[in-house]
Amino acid sequence: MSDARFITVEGIEGAGKSSCLAVIEALIRRRGHDLLVTREPGGTPLGEELRALLLGHRADGMSDDAELLLMFAARAEHLYRRIEPALAAGQWVLCDRFTDATYAYQGYGRGIDLARIATLETWVQGGRKPDLTLLLDLPVEQGLSRAGKRSAPDRFEREQTAFFERVRAGYLALAERSPQRYRVIDASRPLEPVAEDIATTFATWLDGDAR
Ligand code: TMP
Repeated sequence: MSDARFITVEGIEGAGKSSCLAVIEALIRRRGHDLLVTREPGGTPLGEELRALLLGHRADGMSDDAELLLMFAARAEHLYRRIEPALAAGQWVLCDRFTDATYAYQGYGRGIDLARIATLETWVQGGRKPDLTLLLDLPVEQGLSRAGKRSAPDRFEREQTAFFERVRAGYLALAERSPQRYRVIDASRPLEPVAEDIATTFATWLDGDAR
């Protein structure tokens, strides 16, 4: 059996995902594993087109259900074309967001029934779930102030603070429900201690992951 692992990184806007992904990528490569680094929504030509629709303002006012279904359409394509073939070939997969983002944003954030999301999850993924999910957690105000210093806000970044409070609380609830899979990192600190924490957390998880 392949020892390839599927690792995802989650967090609200401004959590520092990009820097942390680079840290994790380096850790995995240093251990000599072949690695696919990808993202959601996106990761395939169709997925990137759906991402542009989902994040851009052309589709402002899209219904919550359309948003949910497009997220899963992009995910179905991503699993079929990239993630499953990579894992089957023994390649590790590091993904910037995955289905936990759907529970957090469309479920807790938009208020869609979590059971409906679970139905789509089973349909699209079968039993496929990440082996490890790193949640970069920080106060919403701090995240939004970091994110606000970047480019023009996308369709999600335009949401109000209350939306992101629900998303953050949702992520923490998901982490509490799946302690085996989740590791919560305090991302309110500067990058250096966060990177050290990630390195330790990752090494401990890997050594304890008896597969
Ligand atoms: P980012 O990955 O560049 O941070 O942006 C992706 C945005 O899409 C982010 O605001 C979260 C949102 N998103 C969802 O709402 N649901 C999902 O399932 C995924 C993967 C992302």
